[in-house]
Amino acid sequence: MPNTILIGAQWGDEGKGKIIDVLTEGADWVVRAQGGNNAGHTVEVGEERFVLHLVPSGILHDGKRCVIGNGVVLDPVALVEEIRGVMDRGFSVEGRLFISDRAHVVFPYHRMLDAQGEACKAKDDQIGTTQRGIGPAYSDKAARFGLRMGDLIDPSFPEVLRSRIEDKNRALSALGAPTVEFAEILAATQEAMAVLAPLVCDTVPLLHDAVRAGDTMLFEGAQGIMLDIDFGTYPFVTSSNAGSGGAATGSGVPPNRMDRVVGVLKAYTTRVGEGPFPTELFDADGEELRRVGREFGATTGRPRRCGWFDAVVARHAVMTCGVDEWALTKLDVLDGFETLKICTAYELDGRLIDHVPANVRQLARCTPIYEEMPGWQTSTQGITRYEELPAAAQRYIARLEAVSGAPVAILSLGPRRDETIFREPRA
Ligand code: IMP
Repeated sequence: MPNTILIGAQWGDEGKGKIIDVLTEGADWVVRAQGGNNAGHTVEVGEERFVLHLVPSGILHDGKRCVIGNGVVLDPVALVEEIRGVMDRGFSVEGRLFISDRAHVVFPYHRMLDAQGEACKAKDDQIGTTQRGIGPAYSDKAARFGLRMGDLIDPSFPEVLRSRIEDKNRALSALGAPTVEFAEILAATQEAMAVLAPLVCDTVPLLHDAVRAGDTMLFEGAQGIMLDIDFGTYPFVTSSNAGSGGAATGSGVPPNRMDRVVGVLKAYTTRVGEGPFPTELFDADGEELRRVGREFGATTGRPRRCGWFDAVVARHAVMTCGVDEWALTKLDVLDGFETLKICTAYELDGRLIDHVPANVRQLARCTPIYEEMPGWQTSTQGITRYEELPAAAQRYIARLEAVSGAPVAILSLGPRRDETIFREPRA
């Protein structure tokens, strides 16, 4: 397998966890390069179901090595809990999981500032964050006020933390929020570091040596391009680069060592949290997508907003991430629909547009232009060859390819590893 960047091509929750798990077979290393435990990747292995937030799902494959890169923001207490969960189920991390000493740390005050920041905003400005402290941790990184994993293993850590907490408590008090206890945070962090310290290292030379030795890498994206801080529906986005560029800046592996970009697309669209979503459905079809697709957040349990497939969004992913091929997920969720709709363009203030406008107010005014296609109304369960799919399903996929601008190379018809169809490359 060539070095592959995998990205979410919508608003996250595209089913990346399963595709990453399947592609991991062909990779030596799985690298996480952005986001934090706001992400939730669900992987089903046999009868077992794993939800991973920070640890790359490569950990569930014996012999694969995993890196949490410098672009990630990491809550040490949450990470230890996750590592214990993985170990309890028989997977080792020693010599297999490496954490960048440049990765920024999420502390309890970041979580409190996240919650408080949302609570202080007017209703229309609320982002609906996962409240994991992600935004405030990246804010500290950009403000050059953050602490990194390498700082936590330095003897100066207690003093630096004390000074940070004094500052953050002033900010929390000003917002009318409860303050945090230095001793409590120090103790919890030190307890977590007793587990994490042996895993912390400079992951840049590690990855470079591996690339030089001919090892292959899978960069597992979190969230999706529409939540990317630059190319998403700003300000209703997360605080990192969820697009393919984030894989390079968040790992230290340069762009000219990347060979292929796989975009993960759900056969319809979902979103959690606030912000515009042109193809959102408020009717029985939307309810049906949520019920059949079990569309509830893996991290927060929130019901996801559901809507038809949006090719304008998919083209945006192709342009900004260089998507070479799609992994199309959850096609089986559409099995029962009589008619399917595909959004091919938007109407904005009486004009037809074929791209995602940068301005979120303009996007909120966009109405989708739909094409309708007949559904297949038969179960696709158990199908293992593309040619065995109902003709209407093949036509739906062909149309998605034509309007989105990239071919579907991987098709997922269920959560299990064996519910996956790989298509031969086509001319
Ligand atoms: P934050 O990343 O917690 O700051 O949340 C910012 C926005 O991104 C909110 O709308 C969240 O619902 C959304 N978000 C963050 N992580 C994920 C994810 O992994 N899947 C889907 N949405 C996410």
